[in-house]
Amino acid sequence: MAERLNVHHPILQRMYHLDGDVEERTHIYDDWAGAYDEDTVEHLGYVGPPLVAALVAELVPAAAPVLDAGCGTGLVGAELAARGFTAVDGVDLSEGMLKVARSKGVYRRLERADITRPLPFDPGGYAAVSCAGTFTAGHVGPEGIDPLVAAARRGGYVVMTVLTQVWEDMGFAAHVAGLTREGAVTVVEDRPDQTYHTSEPVTCRLLVLRAER
Ligand SMILES: C[S@@+](CC[C@H](N)C(=O)[O-])C[C@H]1O[C@@H](n2cnc3c(N)ncnc32)[C@H](O)[C@@H]1O
Repeated sequence: MAERLNVHHPILQRMYHLDGDVEERTHIYDDWAGAYDEDTVEHLGYVGPPLVAALVAELVPAAAPVLDAGCGTGLVGAELAARGFTAVDGVDLSEGMLKVARSKGVYRRLERADITRPLPFDPGGYAAVSCAGTFTAGHVGPEGIDPLVAAARRGGYVVMTVLTQVWEDMGFAAHVAGLTREGAVTVVEDRPDQTYHTSEPVTCRLLVLRAER
């Protein structure tokens, strides 16, 4: 990317204003896949993946099966592999992103899937489900939490980032409160205002839910 990437950059502005257009979102990521790691990690100082992976590693043993939802190019998978995880599956909408993830050799299985629908592989069998960077403006709304909870085994965890600016605006707070009220989940960790991009003042909420069913 010729100019320095920041939250005002056209690619991110385009992404943040997609209004749920899944096809367009997929095309943007297919096009961006080759430059994504450098643009986000090096230019934005994006730290969602290590935040999420460190929490997963605190909660479950490295041999446990983990599903990385919205795995993109595999930044979370690489962070988990560095912590000794060997049974990490990944799903993403974008084949371009999955191709980069495949090249890293850190996932057990990878498949194209929409995380707002029931997920493939081992439904209800994962000790933890990770999701970094996907609950953000113009991406997946709070309805995307339910399939992740369903993918986790009873007593398993969903560890996710939610961009601070969408936590209230897109209804995440209300949705999580509803799931808690129904007894579907318990909120194990709720850390607001976590540094998300180190090169600009962009923060996320780091949330851990335990699946109770
Ligand atoms: C900002 S990237 C984050 C990727 C990776 N988790 C990371 O932290 O680098 C968002 C990813 O979510 C994927 N995505 C967006 N909507 C999705 C959906 N409904 N189902 C599955 N993946 C989705 C995109 O293709 C993209 O790879």
